Amino acid sequence: MTRHRVPAGPRHRSQRLATTRNIPTISGALGLCLIGATHSGDHEIPNLKDPEVISAGRELFLEKHCSHCHGADGNGGVNLTDRDLSNPTYVFEAIAEGQERGTLRMPAWRDVLSEAEIWQATAYVISISHNSK
Ligand code: HEC
Repeated sequence: MTRHRVPAGPRHRSQRLATTRNIPTISGALGLCLIGATHSGDHEIPNLKDPEVISAGRELFLEKHCSHCHGADGNGGVNLTDRDLSNPTYVFEAIAEGQERGTLRMPAWRDVLSEAEIWQATAYVISISHNSK
């Protein structure tokens, strides 16, 4: 009778090693991206129609509690969907500097969010605003 041979172990092990070796490279690249983001102080407008930018903005909208005042879809409380928000620079500034209407006040977000994040929020707000097609 022949004995079945167990598949060689070393191959598995070397695969696992290869995977582990990639991790520092990946986190290194991520670190570089983050540094790059905080250093880009110039007004570089990302593609506001990019679905990824919009969905990042939506996440931020929920995470940073914009949704508390504006509703999860921007159409509750202080409604954002029923007005003309088609001017990206205006929307960016409104979020960055804060807004006031009567007794209602929105704080400035400039020191809370990075410029890139404000652009993401801008992209999301524009995407839900009815008047910007
Ligand atoms: C404390 C409540 C509150 C929070 C939190 C809040 N907002 Fe506001 N927001 C307001 C108020 C009040 C206004 C000004 C009143 C208005 O425009 O109707 C406003 C105005 C705006 C405007 C300008 C609308 C216009 O027509 O000029 C935008 C854009 C906006 N908010 C986006 C955001 C985003 C993005 C966040 C999260 C990063 C956020 N808001 C968080 C209350 C809030």
